[in-house]
Amino acid sequence: MSQDHETLDNLLRENRTFPPSTEFAENSNITADLYTQADADRLGFWEQQARELDWDTDFTEVLDWSDAPFAKWFVGGTLNVAYNCVDRHVHAGFGDQVAIRFEGEPGDQRNITYRELMGEVSKAANALQELGVTAGDRVAIYMPMIPEAVVAMLACARVGAAHSVVFAGFSAEALRSRIQDAQAKLVITVDGQNRRGSVMALKPAVDEAVAACPSVNNVLVVKRCGNDVTWGEKDVWWHEFVDQQSEEHTPLAFDSEHPLFILYTSGTTGKPKGILHTTGGYLTQVAYTHRVVFDLKPDSDVYWCTADIGWVTGHSYIVYGPLANRVTQVIYEGTPDTPGKDRWWDIVERHGVTTLYTAPTAIRTFMKWGDELPGSHDLSSLRLLGSVGEPINPEAWMWYREVIGGSNCPIVDTWWQTETGGIMISPIPSVTATKPGSAMRALPGIGLAIVDEQGTELGDGHGGFLVLTQPWPGMLRGIWGDDQRFVDTYWSKWPQYYFAGDGAKFDDDGAIWLLGRVDDVMNVSGHRISTTEVESALVSHSSVAEAAVVGASDDTTGQAIVAFVILRSGMDGADGTELVKELRNHVATEIGPIAKPRQIMIVPELPKTRSGKILRRLLQDVAEHRNIGDSTTLADPAVMNLISTGLEASSSDN
Ligand code: WTA
Repeated sequence: MSQDHETLDNLLRENRTFPPSTEFAENSNITADLYTQADADRLGFWEQQARELDWDTDFTEVLDWSDAPFAKWFVGGTLNVAYNCVDRHVHAGFGDQVAIRFEGEPGDQRNITYRELMGEVSKAANALQELGVTAGDRVAIYMPMIPEAVVAMLACARVGAAHSVVFAGFSAEALRSRIQDAQAKLVITVDGQNRRGSVMALKPAVDEAVAACPSVNNVLVVKRCGNDVTWGEKDVWWHEFVDQQSEEHTPLAFDSEHPLFILYTSGTTGKPKGILHTTGGYLTQVAYTHRVVFDLKPDSDVYWCTADIGWVTGHSYIVYGPLANRVTQVIYEGTPDTPGKDRWWDIVERHGVTTLYTAPTAIRTFMKWGDELPGSHDLSSLRLLGSVGEPINPEAWMWYREVIGGSNCPIVDTWWQTETGGIMISPIPSVTATKPGSAMRALPGIGLAIVDEQGTELGDGHGGFLVLTQPWPGMLRGIWGDDQRFVDTYWSKWPQYYFAGDGAKFDDDGAIWLLGRVDDVMNVSGHRISTTEVESALVSHSSVAEAAVVGASDDTTGQAIVAFVILRSGMDGADGTELVKELRNHVATEIGPIAKPRQIMIVPELPKTRSGKILRRLLQDVAEHRNIGDSTTLADPAVMNLISTGLEASSSDN
């Protein structure tokens, strides 16, 4: 677990609580009754949430769990996700409401109404069909935060093709492996994206990946930056091909369990897992949680989730949940420090953002940049703040509340995962008295427990492993192409429970404190990266014989990647500084810049047990500059001395 006992004890002494203001509670129609209703009849509760959507064919059964852990929700029902997110709002008379207020990094702006979005999605759906994409196919999307990314996702949903969005910061190699695993037929991308004031080409990475992917028939390219691109015979310009399509498209209804998307996430092995989500249950849960957790007011809120569509937060809380709920939202293309470090606060002020949903790593960065930047803007439009992706420390929580929220906005710290599809643990802002740093309790409809190694449920004041005790509508339906890995990863430690991989603790009042991953998955700036993935990237370099990677705590990014490498023989004379630089770049090429180790230490040995297992715990002590813990299980106890002394000679660069 990433936090030591001292921190934990401090957390558990946290006795500040912040109940919602009377005004906030009175203006909300969400009350504590929701918990009572869900407790009284859980499936009936979910049925009621599902009824908020437009179904083409009604479902006949809420949940079929007979083939556990493979769930079927809203059995027999059919619906179209894109219709639910767009068309139905137009038919209900909200065609002129702005769905997306887009702001590019250079400052270009574009408002897209629900009627316009319906036209764009329909055109793109027609284009996909003309390119031979049909229901059940897979489409890879490798795009920055521009409206066409949302349109592309919705167009896939509209024609029943599963999208696999690959974060645009991933390398060509990472893109290739994901395209191949899903056997994608089409890739949708851009020429380039605006980042920190310059144009970063994206198309070359796609060209490189697609060259090794015979499943891909076409590459559909949005012209975003106008940078030069190499043009191949599979390439099709979006503005030539999509724009000439008809704005009319009749959505087909798909089975509630029809695949909606695959999203790859790191597991404990080197191979990312393709998390599979389906249609009816997923949309039900993301729409419900978005409505309740963000106390949504579709007629007056301006919502802004700062995530990227390359991560699950972008899927569930930019695209599907918010649009199903007819939100007006801001989408911003660029980085928070361009042109100045107050860009976000400028956006909040100019767009009158009411609801801001972001990650602790961003909050900690803004804390470092100083109070003057947000202080120079009028942030009084804000009424609710959210946090996601990693534990938020009480200091950052208080800063967020006071400096950004003017001590006037409830904070919802939301715990969930790519696998859960939607938020599972969170305060309800109109109901819950929050504690700084705690995600508080399971949402109505969610069954959760904290258990010990034997699977025995623990009570208040105790910590252990977080498990989900009941199936939920947005749950993953499997790992793409690997049912066994799905069962082994999540359902084998305690077969009756879904094991989330996180440690957690109930405090004396029953509030939940998340304690970080208990497996070999790191959380860097809210992004999941497995230690094994980085290790494989390092050993694929010709000068590395062995590598061990740990996540060390970091003030800004939560955890930082620290690598220990043993060089191949004959490398003794190598220039350490140069080599470390080269290895960091090599990891960026293999995985992406987000996986670059903060620090690489060249060591003569690694600490191993007699059975050859690397004791990462000891390396973590080194990486976090602690006294080295119990090393009696080492095959060779002298190794730790060797490592500690060897460190003087090795280098780190940031
Ligand atoms: C961590 C992101 C503490 C956790 C939505 C989980 C959190 C992993 C929180 C999932 C939170 C997410 N407090 N930890 N509020 N939210 N996590 O799949 O370790 O990218 O298992 O989904 O992030 O990361 P993922």
